[in-house]
Amino acid sequence: MNAQNSASSTRVDEIAVDIFRISTPVPASVVPGGFTFNQYLIRDDEPLLFHTGPRMLFGAVRAAIERVVPVSTLRYISFSHVEADECGSLNQFLAIAPRAVPLCGRIAAMVSIGDLADRPPHALADQERLTLGRRTEQWIDAPHLPHGWECGFLSETTTRTLLCGDLFTRFGERHPAITEDDILEPSEAARIGMDYYAHSPDTGRLLGRLADTAPTTLACMHGSAWRGDGATLLRSLASRLASTASSAR
Ligand SMILES: [Fe+2]
Ligand SMILES: [Fe+2]
Repeated sequence: MNAQNSASSTRVDEIAVDIFRISTPVPASVVPGGFTFNQYLIRDDEPLLFHTGPRMLFGAVRAAIERVVPVSTLRYISFSHVEADECGSLNQFLAIAPRAVPLCGRIAAMVSIGDLADRPPHALADQERLTLGRRTEQWIDAPHLPHGWECGFLSETTTRTLLCGDLFTRFGERHPAITEDDILEPSEAARIGMDYYAHSPDTGRLLGRLADTAPTTLACMHGSAWRGDGATLLRSLASRLASTASSAR
């Protein structure tokens, strides 16, 4: 399913079975170089939204979700870490989805979401699994990767899709919904220009743990989703980060 929301420039594309990328472009006049904000909707008995988008996009994201499932049926509102584009409209979604709860790691629940959210979060431990119906998600703690103590990722184990948040961020407002082209070089250009990684001593080990999930689809928050050998790509990113760190010393 590929659909353009006529009320906005927000697109909805199915990038893996029952996983939908909701993407809104931001023009270069607003963000130099242009940008995209992506959310991912997993359609199952207990629908899950990963990233809410910032509050300014709430109406567009809500309308896009409605093209796939009734927004009132959302069960989990999840995200990688606490930032506006990750969970800015969390409470707005909780208000219109009465069965929904925030879904995050234990650090996020303890430090922020237990207070910020209008409903108590469902906190997942590292490696803990959660069944949505036909498919199972696994939470992976990743503190400070790329930033934020509370950071973590969801692995969608049925389709081997890693919901990888800000990893592999790319600028530009026009991207295909999913690509098999190289995304490492353009994301490295963005990373080196913005230096948004925390450069923790654990970065390489954490990327190795994500690679161990052997993802075949990476659900990126900014730019296209990607299909290919995710383990190799994640290990390549770890090597690039290690070489950047050693050259900075
Ligand atoms: Fe971030
Ligand atoms: Fe982001």
